Amino acid sequence: MTNLADTWGIHKAQFWLRGQVPDDPVRFAPELGMWNVYGYPETLRILGDPGIFSSNTLRLVPEIQQNTEGNLVQMDPPEHKKLRSLVSHAFTPKVVADLEPRIARLTHELLDVVSGRERLELVADLAYPLPVIVIAELLGVPSSDRDMFKQWVDKMLESSTQFSLVNRTEEQDRQVKVALEQSKLLLDYLGKHAAERRRKPREDLLTKLVEAEVDGDRLTETEVANFANILLIAGHITTTMLLGNTVLCLDAYAEEGAKVRADRSLVPTAIEESLRFFSPFAAVARSTTSAVELGGKTIPADQLIMVWIAAANRDPRQFTNPNEFDASRDPNPHVAFGRGIHFCLGAPLARLEGRIALNILMDRFPHLRTDPAAPPEFIASPNMTGVRKLPLQVR
Ligand code: HEM
Repeated sequence: MTNLADTWGIHKAQFWLRGQVPDDPVRFAPELGMWNVYGYPETLRILGDPGIFSSNTLRLVPEIQQNTEGNLVQMDPPEHKKLRSLVSHAFTPKVVADLEPRIARLTHELLDVVSGRERLELVADLAYPLPVIVIAELLGVPSSDRDMFKQWVDKMLESSTQFSLVNRTEEQDRQVKVALEQSKLLLDYLGKHAAERRRKPREDLLTKLVEAEVDGDRLTETEVANFANILLIAGHITTTMLLGNTVLCLDAYAEEGAKVRADRSLVPTAIEESLRFFSPFAAVARSTTSAVELGGKTIPADQLIMVWIAAANRDPRQFTNPNEFDASRDPNPHVAFGRGIHFCLGAPLARLEGRIALNILMDRFPHLRTDPAAPPEFIASPNMTGVRKLPLQVR
């Protein structure tokens, strides 16, 4: 199958989805004032060396002045380790594993609403509400507020162009302003709930975060709100994309889809392959703390680097037939959840939700397929790869 990316109108910047391999895996982009890294070994080098490749990127973007206390993604050692171990105490594998029956029940409830219909729209009917309700319930904020979160998050992420450090247009300034305003609304909302838990503890993750202690230290209100914010945003968009992308891949590559339906033990490898093939977060950012050689180039200190993990996941130096969707690919050392000290904290939850939802969808809809009259739509951002609408026929 050639170039589904064009057929589906996936963002033009994502050349790796069009079978193209970059001449140089490390490249300076003068129009953006930053570096792009596309190769797998180069990505591993960056993610494995937080001393040189710092996660504190906002220091290079003066227009984004935000209090990042508690924002794990922006932190470096040793502060990162301390906060991560503190929140890991609250977000344990057991907390996640215990969610299995609730995730299954929720999936059935959401699908009950559309049962009897000729068609469904996977994102609105299941892939969006399921992970949002799960993360809202886990945190302890009302899942009935989810339309409000969606509005904030959609506006925050609406930019369809890549941010430039040198070409500062009015449109870019407007987009940054909108994103910061929406982010503040979400942080204030979470801050209010966190303050309430301090006064009145409950059985929820916000209370655990407010009470968590490492070496006698507790999180501040801002730290709790910033961390809850990452969880809520991650819970919104990434797992939604994972579910939609997986269903779409199993439809587009029908033989693979049939294989997985016939042998459900392949569901986990199919999910990993979906993460490799259409990585929901296409890029992570780092900044250099000193000059460094990478991929035959010298990157000076204090440079912003976009590490295109989605492109690394198509690197032919690492993956055999990288542009083929192989539902039983194993081993599959993709970097869709990152690597090293910042490896996605929510990966077990995303994998669990994906496995449960996919199995239930296949159980309930033996003839699920895309609708040629209503093709899928993808998120318009260069930094993400995921369906935002996936109409399906059920008979
Ligand atoms: C398919 C779904 C998901 C994908 C593809 C994904 C991807 C990622 C990636 C690439 C990173 C690394 C960022 C970096 O190195 O700078 C990351 C970190 C993180 N993710 Fe996820 N994520 C997903 C789901 C989730 C979920 C469901 C949650 C929470 C419930 C979550 C919470 C986090 C957190 C807290 C971090 C920061 C960890 C740290 O900096 O130490 N993610 N994720």
